This record gives sequence, structure tokens and C-alpha cells, in this order.
Amino acid sequence: RIVYLNGEYIPEEEAKVSVFDRGFVMGDAVYEVTSVLGGKILEFEGHMNRLGRSLAELEMTCDLTRDEWIEIHRELVKRNDLDEGMIYLQVSRGNAGDRDFHYPPEGTPPTVVLYTQSKPNLADDPKAKQGIKVISLPDLRWHRRDIKTVQLLYPSMAKMAAEKAGKNDAWFVEDGFVTEGSSNNVYIVKGNKIITRHLSHDILHGITRASLLKYAAESQMEIEERPFTIEEAQGADEAFFTSASAFVMPVVEIDGEAVGEGAVGPVAMRLREIYLDESR
Ligand code: PDD
Repeated sequence: RIVYLNGEYIPEEEAKVSVFDRGFVMGDAVYEVTSVLGGKILEFEGHMNRLGRSLAELEMTCDLTRDEWIEIHRELVKRNDLDEGMIYLQVSRGNAGDRDFHYPPEGTPPTVVLYTQSKPNLADDPKAKQGIKVISLPDLRWHRRDIKTVQLLYPSMAKMAAEKAGKNDAWFVEDGFVTEGSSNNVYIVKGNKIITRHLSHDILHGITRASLLKYAAESQMEIEERPFTIEEAQGADEAFFTSASAFVMPVVEIDGEAVGEGAVGPVAMRLREIYLDESR
């Protein structure tokens, strides 16, 4: 695999980052995950806008232009002959030298890494036909979840806990209300209405979420942006989540309780089809 590191395209074995890098020592880095279907890069503008926002919120600078970013994405797809899969992008605050909580001096170059991961059946995921099962867990993450940082230890712990319980993923709960999934935005369906938590610092502003809500509105669905509880979700007609890597994924069980009929519902299935059709 050919990866991009600080301006160079090199074999993955040669791609090395300093042990002093702030991403490694402090988790001081932001990232994006962008899907590729049939060689096409999905939602590029959305991911770049959010990257810019994450960088700005952390006062991190990276002087790559929009044209350079798209060029790197395209070049990696080409060099790795990527048909279906994803592109991972990470920008860290760079090599700070000796360990120090303070940011390194202005002008310290960031560390920019991009690589591809092939997932041949990304759009054809059998899980989308069966739906997935989730457990709920307290949301123990920090309170700036709108910034897409690499501080993913708690989401990793949550996914492991779900796996140990024989389930697929976890939904986080704070002050009695669902915030989001461990790596996705969550929704419930009641009749013709889609309910999803409003945007704030409490959740990541999903790129797939923005498109999904647009397509749902165009399909004459009603949208209500507000928090909901696990109990309300268990009693809903349907539940699902969205993310760049899973698109629209039906959720058929929460904490051992079936959602609706306990099977993939028509709304989630249709929204998944619409999302994939519009993306391809
Ligand atoms: N996760 N919420 C969280 C906490 C996420 O990590 C993600 C994305 C989302 C969905 O955002 P988007 O639709 O822009 O992918 C919501 C990515 C896919 C990941 O970490 O792999």
C-alpha cells in the first residue's frame, strides 16, 4: 500500500512518524474518514469543511489547500487501485520535541498522514440486511465531541464491551438522553417522523447525517431534532445510525429489547437505498 506522509507518497513500511509527535504523545490530532465507492470519493466537501473546523477549534494550522487535499485523495485512490473502501486522514500538531503540555511554537509543521483501506463489500454489507444490536453505556467522553479528534479510547472500550455482550455496537447516554453511537449518529423513526439529536458540542456533526436529513426531507419525511431516551428508542417503529463508513445502518435491538418488529424496517431500508443511490 502507498500512503501519504508530509508531502510524499511512500510504501507503508517506510512511513514513519517521530516518537515525539503530539498525536502519539498527547492524542493531539484530528481525523476524517471518507468512503470510496466505485473509485468515487464521497462527501469530499463535507469532510474538508469539518476538518477545517476541527483544526480551527484546536488552533492547529495546516496549509494544504482544498485543491491539494483533493489531489492527495485522488492520487491515493489511483496508486492503490481503490475501488471500494475508505480514506483515512489524520493531522497532528507535529513533532514537539521534549514532552510539554503547551503547544509547540508557531510554525511547527503538522504531521499529515493519509492512507486507504480496501473494503470490497462496503456497500453490500450483510449487516444492513439483518440490522444490528446495540447496548447502552454512559457517555464518558470529553465535552467537545463536535471536534473530530483521535481520542478514541472510550469508543474502543465501548465497542469491546458490546462485543463481549454478543452485540454489535454501543449507544451513549448522558443525563438520561442518547447522545450518539460509539462512532455514528443515531435516529429513531415514529410514523413518518425521523427523530435525531440536535447539533451541539455534545455530538459529532456527521457528514452523513447532514445528507441523510436532506434526503429525508426531500422524501416528504418529517424531521424532529431533539434528544430521546433509550426507552423511547426501544418503543419506536425503527432505529438506525449513520456514518461515513456504514452509510445508513438499521438497529433492531437496544439493551435486549426489540425495536419495532425487531427486524429491518422500511424507512431505514429506503433511506439507505436513497443515500447509496445519491452517493454513487
Ligand atoms: N466515525 N459520531 C461519531 C462519534 C463518529 O465517530 C462518527 C464517524 C460519526 C458520523 O460522522 P460521519 O457521518 O461524518 O462519518 C458520528 C467515523 C466513521 C470513524 O471514526 O470511523
